[in-house]
Amino acid sequence: MKEQYLGSGVKLRSATPADLPDLLRVCLQTGDSGKDATHLHKLPELVGDIYVAPYVLHSPELAFVLVGDGKVVGYLLGVLDTKAFETTLANDYWPTTKAKYSQLLTDITPSDQDLLVDLAKQGFSDPELIAKYPSHLHIDILETHQSAGYGKAMIQFLLAQMQEAGSTGVHLHMSSKNDRARAFYKKFAFTEITEDSNECIMGRTF
Ligand SMILES: CC(C)(COP(=O)(O)OP(=O)(O)OC[C@H]1O[C@@H](n2cnc3c(N)ncnc32)[C@H](O)[C@@H]1OP(=O)(O)O)[C@@H](O)C(=O)NCCC(=O)NCCS
Repeated sequence: MKEQYLGSGVKLRSATPADLPDLLRVCLQTGDSGKDATHLHKLPELVGDIYVAPYVLHSPELAFVLVGDGKVVGYLLGVLDTKAFETTLANDYWPTTKAKYSQLLTDITPSDQDLLVDLAKQGFSDPELIAKYPSHLHIDILETHQSAGYGKAMIQFLLAQMQEAGSTGVHLHMSSKNDRARAFYKKFAFTEITEDSNECIMGRTF
C-alpha cells in the first residue's frame, strides 16, 4: 500500500475495492462538469461504475484515494497501458456492467440516459491517440478540498510514476464545459488534442 501525507490531515493512499462506495459517491458529487450531479440522476452508481470502478478493480497499482480527516474526499486514477486495460475491461468488466444496467431501464433521468449511451459505447480508444499518449488518468476532488494544492500534488505524483514506468505520453477526457479543469491541466503541460461541444481530450508527452 502506497501512502503520501499531503499536510493538514490529508493523505493520498492506494485504493482498495472496499473504497468503492465512497469513490462512487465522490464521482457523483463531481459528475456535472466538476459540480455535484446528485440531483441529475436516479441511478446514482452509474457514473462511477463507468468512470471509477474499472480503475480500482483493474488498474489498482495507480488507483489512489484522497483522505481528509478520515473521510474519502477525492481520487486519482491512472492507467499506464490503455490498450491492455481496455482489452481487460472488454473481457472482464463491460459485459457484466452492461448486463447490470440493461435490467434497470425504467424511471431514469435524461442524464442517466446519456450515461447509458456512454456505457454502451465503452470499448477501445482511437489507436492513433493511444500510440502517442498510451497512458490516461482521472482526478476528482470534492468541493470542500479543492483549491488547496491537493490536485497539484496528486497529478504531479501520478505523472512522475507514469514517467518512471516508461510511459511516453498521457491523455484524459473531460467535459468541454469544465473551464476550471482545463486551466488546471494546462498548468501541467496538457494541451487540447480533439474537442467537440461535449468532450475535450487533452494530452501531454513525457
Ligand atoms: C480540477 C481539480 C482536480 C484541481 O485540483 P485543486 O486541488 O482544486 O487544484 P490546486 O489547488 O492543486 O491548484 C493547482 C494549480 O491549478 C491552478 N488552478 C486551479 N483552478 C484554476 C482555475 N480555475 N483557473 C486557473 N488556474 C487554476 C491553481 O492556481 C494551481 O496553480 P499554482 O500552483 O500555479 O497556483 C479539482 O478542483 C477538482 O477535482 N474539481 C472538480 C472535479 C473536476 O473537475 N475534475 C476534473 C475532471 S476532468
